[in-house]
Amino acid sequence: MCGIIGYVGDKKIVPLLIEGLKKLEYRGYDSAGICVLDGGMLKSIKDKGRISELEKEEPLKWISGNAGIAHTRWATHGKPDEINAHPHFDCKKEIAIVHNGIIENYQSLKKLLIKEGHMISSETDSEIIAHLIEKFYEGDLEEAVTRVLKLLEGTYGLAVLSNKEEKIIVAKKGSPLVIGVGDGEMFIASDISPIIEHTNKIIYLSDGEVGIITKDRYIIKNIDGNGVDKKVHEVKWSIDQIEKGNFKHFMLKEIFEQPEVIRNTFRGRIKDGKIKLSLNIDFKKIKRIILTACGTSWHSAVIGKYLIEEYAKIPCEVDYASEFRYRNPMVNTDDLLIAISQSGETADTIAALKEAKGKGAKTLGIVNVVGSTISREVDSGIYLHAGPETGVASTKAFTSQIAALTLFSLYLGQESGMDIDNEILKEMEIIPEKIEKVLENSERIRNIASRFKDKNNFLYFGRGINFPVALEGALKLKEISYIHAEGYPAAEMKHGPIALIDKNMPIVFLATKSSISSKILSNIEEVYARDGKIISVVNEKTPEVEKFSEELIIVPETIEELSPIINVISLQLLAYHIADLKGLDVDKPRNLAKSVTVE
Ligand code: G6P
Repeated sequence: MCGIIGYVGDKKIVPLLIEGLKKLEYRGYDSAGICVLDGGMLKSIKDKGRISELEKEEPLKWISGNAGIAHTRWATHGKPDEINAHPHFDCKKEIAIVHNGIIENYQSLKKLLIKEGHMISSETDSEIIAHLIEKFYEGDLEEAVTRVLKLLEGTYGLAVLSNKEEKIIVAKKGSPLVIGVGDGEMFIASDISPIIEHTNKIIYLSDGEVGIITKDRYIIKNIDGNGVDKKVHEVKWSIDQIEKGNFKHFMLKEIFEQPEVIRNTFRGRIKDGKIKLSLNIDFKKIKRIILTACGTSWHSAVIGKYLIEEYAKIPCEVDYASEFRYRNPMVNTDDLLIAISQSGETADTIAALKEAKGKGAKTLGIVNVVGSTISREVDSGIYLHAGPETGVASTKAFTSQIAALTLFSLYLGQESGMDIDNEILKEMEIIPEKIEKVLENSERIRNIASRFKDKNNFLYFGRGINFPVALEGALKLKEISYIHAEGYPAAEMKHGPIALIDKNMPIVFLATKSSISSKILSNIEEVYARDGKIISVVNEKTPEVEKFSEELIIVPETIEELSPIINVISLQLLAYHIADLKGLDVDKPRNLAKSVTVE
């Protein structure tokens, strides 16, 4: 995620671009920058931090012009600082680009450019685009851009400005890009939020299309240079609707982003039947893995234990970061500590990491926010590429953590000589489509939610790798609906929770196909015999589960190791709809914080 905006026209360009960036800030906010064609020169200001920091820059006052581009960054490659902030330039500072997406083959292209004498100043994957355009530029910007696009692997929403003409070239593949058609002025942006106050006439660029934008006209072509006829849409959305992508809450938007998020976590990391991760740790020396985290991230750590022990056969322990840091844990130099954190800033997780590091363990981070404290402290790391998560209750970060842990455990197995089963690789490829099927159930789950929303208690039961999913389902519900909920390994039910079961108790069972499905079925029968109200998450309607369940949530079948990704999404939706039907503040639940940076 990143936000880009561009303008060609006669309005005061700097305030227009800055205001536009503010509307796109939800797409990323670790650094920002602006570039305007001013008197034949590309003038640019960049800053670390939020748009409000950029806005304070004095020199902005002296910049004016009729064409400009700007960017708010969500770091993927290279830490969030001024050098890595966009726009990026060629050597002569005659070409500026802003980019949203990931260029997967940037390293090989960068090597080539350096060999040819280009000075690349940032750590980003994006800067090479400006240098490649410089390499191919022979007086025709559009021609040079299209030649470069043919070399790029990965995703982009791209805008290019040169010092020669009041014109912006845009291109799209995998990342969004829209054009706003004004009267004697044109806009380009990642979405319509910064455009809508100026014009409601919008063109949605499709993958593989290139746009040439001047103040009076736009031309859209495909990558081979053939003209494309595009519909101009008249949009009638409010700003608030747009930032949330027409979803009522950020949490719901983030739940619905999960197909794309999982694709992003896997992107470029599976090639020719192998897992590609560049981790500079000698895993052959590792005898034990300790996973540590807090909250939802702790639940993904428990799933990680199952995955690592299954695929890598290395003994694994899971610890709450807050417990680990204070109990003088036994840590050895052949241990690997994995810190899992969406924010990378959770105080207890940072302290646990430092404790293990101090005792000589190797450390690995599984983190979403690039450049965060944990990502800087660890020996090596895997970024989630989930984009900014705004809803306090974590959703897309959780599933992308499971995806990253799947990659990591397969990678560890592969490094110790294991052949990766083709079946799991195939399933990893199609899992985003299966998530889409779960999302199609949203309305059906809302109906179930309306039936149970006034209950005071819930139980969630799962077994094996779906036990942590039961924990996460219960956590989601209590966080945002304030209904008391407990997750349990289903077999533990007989050691306590069974005493709570009566006709008023809803019990959610994770009963999708697994090596222990028959055991779950017995647990369902036991609850039924005590009048519990059963909601079963299953892969199909079988007479047995149908007989015992009040409600069924049917989700697509996948292999057991990936089933948590599918199953938890229906529980996220159940919690969301219950909280929303109760009229609660879903995105900002009481007493909770998105990032707990104090003990
Ligand atoms: C808070 C958030 C949770 C999150 C936990 C850990 O409690 O509300 O959603 O799971 O912190 O945060 P982290 O950023 O370390 O994953």
